[in-house]
Amino acid sequence: MLNVNPDISKAQTISTDFYLKSEYLELTKEKIFANSWQFIGDTDQIKEPGWVTPVNFLENYLNEPLLLSRDKQGEVHCLSNVCTHRGNLLVERPCKLNDIRCKYHGRRFQLDGKFAFMPEFKEVENFPAENDNLTNLPVFKFGKWLFTSLNPKHPAEDQFREMIDRVSWMPFEDFHFRPELSQEYKVKAHWALYCENYLEGFHIPFVHAGLNSIIDYGNYTTELFRYSNLQLGLAKENDEMCFDLPSTSPDFGKRVAGYYFWVFPNMMFNFYPWGLSINVVKPTGQSTCTVSFLSYVWDENKLRQGAGANLHQVEMEDEDVVEHVQKGIRSRFYQHGRYSVKMEKGTHHFHRLLTEFMS
Ligand code: FES
Ligand SMILES: [Fe+2]
Repeated sequence: MLNVNPDISKAQTISTDFYLKSEYLELTKEKIFANSWQFIGDTDQIKEPGWVTPVNFLENYLNEPLLLSRDKQGEVHCLSNVCTHRGNLLVERPCKLNDIRCKYHGRRFQLDGKFAFMPEFKEVENFPAENDNLTNLPVFKFGKWLFTSLNPKHPAEDQFREMIDRVSWMPFEDFHFRPELSQEYKVKAHWALYCENYLEGFHIPFVHAGLNSIIDYGNYTTELFRYSNLQLGLAKENDEMCFDLPSTSPDFGKRVAGYYFWVFPNMMFNFYPWGLSINVVKPTGQSTCTVSFLSYVWDENKLRQGAGANLHQVEMEDEDVVEHVQKGIRSRFYQHGRYSVKMEKGTHHFHRLLTEFMS
């Protein structure tokens, strides 16, 4: 069984079995990814009543076909995208509709997922029943960003509260998605190796020369919360780009170059003076994952400055080292490492949560 000592000064890192054995990758589907809250898009994708957009929940892994919709009253829903008759997929691309209509035999649903009509079903007994409606999943909204859970084990607030409290002063409605600044990276490493690398700033001076010249490594801090944590990067020099914080911010007076929030199990919310880079790490295989970088720009003028200036370069440096670790952990001579108490609190926190959810 997986076990990580709660005392970081005594703990060994999680067993390499977690990354290498296929039964863990399979168990992780239900125990971690179905149970937690996952990013599914933003409200601009369903701006007006009648808009629907399909979402494949963790493509190439859980592959659950979902649908975001905005009903006539303006309410947002996350629905199953599978027809309750014989299982046809309902919506294939974003579009504006009056109702959701199955192309196979004409079953219709309201935009809130309620069954509306079915041809040739007069003689069918006990019809329609509750399970002829589309399954309606819970939706959590933070700013304009939407999340759902297939089988929530804890309330969404528990996953996001600390982040929301910390940055709630930002004008989220002015954050605009920029596809040309967004990218998908295919990484040849287990999804958890990618996350645990993100969770420590320990490697910054060794791996990221450019970032290291901007971030004050000596004052880099990690704060742990129940299902998330925050790495706070302060600007090194007085002329480096940092947030213009309002007095209501808990960080007022600090020269914050970047807020690096990680939210269990696989999401990163990196706030920079220019806006937000959301990173979602999606398992795609035993030693592969896809990382979506989604850029939401708030202040165009600050785009190419400071800690968030060159995300692609930093990503290439991270991928390189994480792919080397993927090769290294297969070694017969490596089973566990230890943690730096000062610098690897975030990685230890992540491993502890993995063992908690897997047990
Ligand atoms: S599968 Fe949708 S109406 Fe038959
Ligand atoms: Fe890094």
